[in-house]
Amino acid sequence: MNIILLGPPGSGKGTQAQFISARFGIPHLSTGEMLREAVVCGTPVGNRAKRVMEAGELVSDEIIVAMVADRLAGPDCANGALFDGFPRTIAQAKALADAGERTDAVIELQVSEAEVLRRITGRRVHERSGRLYHIEFHPPSMEGKDDVTGEPLTQRDDDSEETVRERLRVYREQTEPLIAFYRLRDCRHFEFDGAESVENVRDRVLKELTSLGGS
Ligand code: AP5
Repeated sequence: MNIILLGPPGSGKGTQAQFISARFGIPHLSTGEMLREAVVCGTPVGNRAKRVMEAGELVSDEIIVAMVADRLAGPDCANGALFDGFPRTIAQAKALADAGERTDAVIELQVSEAEVLRRITGRRVHERSGRLYHIEFHPPSMEGKDDVTGEPLTQRDDDSEETVRERLRVYREQTEPLIAFYRLRDCRHFEFDGAESVENVRDRVLKELTSLGGS
């Protein structure tokens, strides 16, 4: 199964991806995570992407499409993949289809902009594992420390209020048109109220995907 998670920044794509990936045994492909890794490793792609990401803009389609194609060639993607943060433009969606990748389901998470701001400015991350916390909605047992390793939690460079507002503007302009794009394609489209609790969203998403023929 190829599944696409669609929704504004902070709508819970990464949070729900962990459950879907575990349930259906398909790899979680987050282009945001791939780019952050490239930045940390100082690769040419990382060096080009760093400033763009910090400004809340989109990295070029050319870089993203090549990065995803590389990742999809991995043997773990033979039975499908869960796309988180990709595609983000019509050009990326067309490139995915042109590469012969079928889209089975689009999961759209709907959340208001006020909620997005609360979520993102309160988000904390354990960098090595990608474990996500929120200072109010999902706090770690010990303030500022990862529950499993006790290592310090950090805040993403692009999670300031000013950058989040720009990311939302970019989402509305460049990514939201994908909702109409996928409605016209031969794939299932599910909408969820992403403002519900993590567990409620998880249960609803897994139920719909299971009905599609997953196990
Ligand atoms: P990316 O990393 O993809 O960021 P994003 O899409 O902006 O999404 P986020 O990771 O911020 O949010 P999320 O929806 O995953 O929410 P999360 O689960 O973390 O991209 C970053 C940048 O990389 C882009 O701006 C761009 O520059 C570049 N980029 C990436 N892909 C690209 C592409 N394809 N093309 C071009 N450029 C690209 O949840 C957020 C917080 O809320 C967490 O603290 C979580 O604990 C909490 N939370 C989650 N669900 C709930 C809930 N139901 N109730 C309460 N709290 C919740």
